[in-house]
Amino acid sequence: MKVLVVGGAGYIGSHTVLKLKEKNIDTVVVDNLSKGHRKAVLTDNFEKVDILDKKRLEKIFEKYKFDGVIHFAAHCLVGESIKNPKLYFEENLNGLLNILDCMLKFKVDNIIFSSSCAVYGNPQFIPLTEEHPKDPINPYGETKFFGEKILKRYEEAYGIKFISLRYFNAAGADFEGRIGESHNPETHLIPLVIKSILDNNFQLTVFGNDYNTKDGSCIRDYIHVLDLAEAHILALNYLLDGGTSDCINLGTGKGFSVFEIIRELEKISGKKSKYKIGKRREGDPPILVADNKKAKEILGWKTENSGINSILESAFKWHTSPKF
Ligand SMILES: NC(=O)c1ccc[n+]([C@@H]2O[C@H](COP(=O)([O-])OP(=O)(O)OC[C@H]3O[C@@H](n4cnc5c(N)ncnc54)[C@H](O)[C@@H]3O)[C@@H](O)[C@H]2O)c1
Repeated sequence: MKVLVVGGAGYIGSHTVLKLKEKNIDTVVVDNLSKGHRKAVLTDNFEKVDILDKKRLEKIFEKYKFDGVIHFAAHCLVGESIKNPKLYFEENLNGLLNILDCMLKFKVDNIIFSSSCAVYGNPQFIPLTEEHPKDPINPYGETKFFGEKILKRYEEAYGIKFISLRYFNAAGADFEGRIGESHNPETHLIPLVIKSILDNNFQLTVFGNDYNTKDGSCIRDYIHVLDLAEAHILALNYLLDGGTSDCINLGTGKGFSVFEIIRELEKISGKKSKYKIGKRREGDPPILVADNKKAKEILGWKTENSGINSILESAFKWHTSPKF
């Protein structure tokens, strides 16, 4: 099997490439390195290509014969998407359309798409099942929602099969500390809490302590990046074995509050986090937790690395000794 990983130099993509390598699956990585890191790609088959450049993308499809595509590349900052929706609609959607065009031209029939719990918008019930109404509240979430619609229509018209994986909060790092999370700017809680512990000049802001939750802070579902990575391989094998297109949540089904994450990281590091309480951020639901039955039943997926200690210890190990 030969797999194209688009956005494979990024956080989740690079961990997926590592898993593919461990399973001896032939992998080609395409990334424009706008956000990703060449050093994060632990395989030799790397092509620095922007997926908005369709001619160059076609050359990659011409050069290799792929059995499937795993597509991670996107702009993914919610706040930026509200300020600059043009960038998000143009690039996230055209990127996907270019990949699909190449798949049609070169007869590649299977794609795994990075979606997000942002497709649901404000939860009407918890845990969120895949049937929960889809009503995204920012352009980022809308690009994921429209992406799923495009995939459905392309399947109906042209037979390209897809699995759209709706991630909750990706977290943690490779246990050997070879790769980890390195976004710039960083907006995710766990790296920011670790920064507030390790960097004397950085203070974390907790956005709101007056939510209707057990301790007043927001609750999120953290899923280990290696469990996410595994799900992509399971999903691709599922399609190659004749499985049907679907949208599937990836989360643990358990939620942790911001204050719980801070306390656990203080225990792991033996040091105090420096934080202040800020105002609530617009569009932050109090609780986001996945119903993950579908992933378990359809893909046989397990969340074996996603205990909160395993997530936080691997993240802390990476951030104390980042390689890029
Ligand atoms: N991190 C999370 O918690 C989370 C949650 C839900 C969904 N997602 C989705 O998962 C995917 C991966 O997220 P991540 O955290 O690994 O992000 P990331 O920014 O680390 O990785 C994205 C990669 O895509 C590359 N890229 C972007 N635009 C490109 C283009 N035009 N051509 C080629 N390469 C391009 C970037 O250089 C980067 O390496 C994204 O689609 C994101 O929306 C992430």
